[in-house]
Amino acid sequence: MIDGVPDYDYVAHTATLRGVVRQRLVTRALREHLPAAPARIVDVGGGTGVQALALARLGYDVTICEPDERMVDEATRAFATAPKEIRDRIRLVQCGAFEVADRVGTGFDATLCHGVIMFVPETEALLRALVRLTRPGGTISIVGKNGPGLALRAGLQGRWRDVLTQLAENGDGAGNGALPPEPVVLGPAPANSADDPSLIRSVLVAEGAEPLAWYGIRTFTDHLADEPPTADLDDIVQAEWVAGTLDPYRQVARLVHLVHRRQP
Ligand SMILES: C[S@@+](CC[C@H](N)C(=O)[O-])C[C@H]1O[C@@H](n2cnc3c(N)ncnc32)[C@H](O)[C@@H]1O
Repeated sequence: MIDGVPDYDYVAHTATLRGVVRQRLVTRALREHLPAAPARIVDVGGGTGVQALALARLGYDVTICEPDERMVDEATRAFATAPKEIRDRIRLVQCGAFEVADRVGTGFDATLCHGVIMFVPETEALLRALVRLTRPGGTISIVGKNGPGLALRAGLQGRWRDVLTQLAENGDGAGNGALPPEPVVLGPAPANSADDPSLIRSVLVAEGAEPLAWYGIRTFTDHLADEPPTADLDDIVQAEWVAGTLDPYRQVARLVHLVHRRQP
């Protein structure tokens, strides 16, 4: 992987069933937690602009910051097809996460950072930067990999060597049947700390951003590779939504969506 750029075709992925399910679940969760529109939102690493467009359609003023030229081009194309009153609520700035404050300021009502944390080696610095972008009382929304559950996709696809490698990365002996310590603070640590939802949560809390909610994304559909959306998409999204709010289903979802609020 080149630094910071997904090693798969993210633009094509966005149109697959998995891509559509993910984006629809994220928008739905955001609607539960964002302040009422109009409010100022910054989307850090906003990619092709799917959330920026969805939120601008809901009446929000969205600043999308994205370093990658191809993503910026795709987002520009997508915004150009939207009606003028929606386009006028979106500002697109080409920059990386650590330049956002200098380029567009701080004090946002909500800061989004979805599917980016796994590409940024400085996990904790990124999280601190996201909190600083957000006004006191504002919302912070992060989507990352669910490290403790990553073997599930390979298992459902029958890739058993990959399953064993992945399980080993979750920590030898972690699954010896022992009861978990009470309270559970950190689960078995994945190899990449950016994939550890407990770490993300604890850094945000230490920075003064309390947890509001967390959701699982793609419990049932993550193994479906690049299949296109099907006619029963609405039912799929509803099933994924309900599972994503419920234990134990959300614990094995591919992605986690963490929503925090910066303390007033
Ligand atoms: C998997 S895509 C997610 C895009 C979008 N947030 C979404 O959920 O559809 C990952 C994005 O992170 C961006 N990215 C990678 N490194 C970054 C950095 N240091 N700062 C900001 N964005 C970054 C990539 O350019 C890419 O657009």
